[in-house]
Amino acid sequence: MSQAEQQLAHDKALFPRIDAPCPLVGACGGCTLQDLSYPDQLALKQQRLARVFSPFELPAAIPVHALEPPWRYRHRAELSFGAEQGSVTLGFHAARSFWKIVDLDDCLLLPEAVARVIRDVRALIRETGLSPYFPRRHEGIFRFLLVRSSHADGTIMLCLVTTPWDRAAVDALAGTLMAAHPNLVSVYWGVTSKLADVSAPEELILVRGRAYLEDRLGPFELQVHPLTFLQPTPALAQRLYARMAEWAEGAPSGNAWDFYCGIGVVGFHLAGKYRHVYGVDSEPRNIELGRLNAQRNRLDNVTFHQGRAEDVVADKRFWLLEAKPHLVVVDPPRTGLHERVISTLLGARPAQIIYISCNAEALARDLQRLGSGFPRYRLRRVEAFDLFPHTAHVEVLALLDRA
Ligand SMILES: C[S@@+](CC[C@H](N)C(=O)[O-])C[C@H]1O[C@@H](n2cnc3c(N)ncnc32)[C@H](O)[C@@H]1O
Repeated sequence: MSQAEQQLAHDKALFPRIDAPCPLVGACGGCTLQDLSYPDQLALKQQRLARVFSPFELPAAIPVHALEPPWRYRHRAELSFGAEQGSVTLGFHAARSFWKIVDLDDCLLLPEAVARVIRDVRALIRETGLSPYFPRRHEGIFRFLLVRSSHADGTIMLCLVTTPWDRAAVDALAGTLMAAHPNLVSVYWGVTSKLADVSAPEELILVRGRAYLEDRLGPFELQVHPLTFLQPTPALAQRLYARMAEWAEGAPSGNAWDFYCGIGVVGFHLAGKYRHVYGVDSEPRNIELGRLNAQRNRLDNVTFHQGRAEDVVADKRFWLLEAKPHLVVVDPPRTGLHERVISTLLGARPAQIIYISCNAEALARDLQRLGSGFPRYRLRRVEAFDLFPHTAHVEVLALLDRA
């Protein structure tokens, strides 16, 4: 057992167990908390956050906002192909296994319509008689299935990721699926020769249907494609963004930075309160969609910079003079902030920093660094949003101001 697993087992021991509704719990690596009631899951997350944030003087317990209902909430999923006794399997990685895939007939975190499409994809792949990709031997064809569904209208987009294969075969498969599922509006084919177990393909081809899935988050209309980052739990994510915008005090003549911006959703929420918003993300496809979506929502004071945040900030003249911020919002990946981003942030002296994090430990570490530099930033408020019920993950929103 890893240290994180041991800690989780220790934390769970304080709560009574229930029968997990999904028969795959334990085998599948996804839902490590399904054997606790939902209120107990929230209490466990609150206790863990209290432990991580104990070095900070917070006036009250950190609220963990619940998702209701906490089922079938995931609007984006990445499944892998595998093999079991000569038959193709399609699902998530097994607990503590790099190779084994737990075959899914259903997943209680996915919308039912998505689960139906997944079952049909698996049946059609089995009919081809061809092999999934075997990572250890670098042989075989089928690697990943990326699925997303629109929270706004229930339409579905999928992307089949394979090693180089036959376009006519993918087209026939897409045609059969779209005929059987009228809500499946877009099928992409991703082609990859990478040895690494990463789902983003080298080539992305629209095989049938629409180029973009139409979605909505709070007041914004969004167009997304298979590789776009967008929080998978829009129902609660929109409350997180609304709270973030509420905490941002606004400065009609000042700037805001939206670092690690994805397609710019944070920045869109700030565009009405600041003179200009600057979004930064390392993924060119996110930036492309960010620009498209800013235009679509008529936000002409949001601009995007593509590059790694730690490299982009090297242009000190721009970031510390021309784009000097009143507010900085950061939403980094699990590893947290790069040292160079922290030092640029301190040099820019924004009045407020808002930190969105999927990793409370990395957040607490970065808050210590921001609280002990010059100027000093004090932690004012922390709230958590349960974007991932039944898993041990939780999204945390923190507000800091300049001392
Ligand atoms: C947690 S997502 C946040 C997205 C966005 N704020 C949202 O709410 O939709 C993290 C983003 O950081 C980007 N990213 C990862 N490493 C990065 C880096 N070194 N510099 C800039 N962006 C990075 C990813 O492409 C991803 O879009």
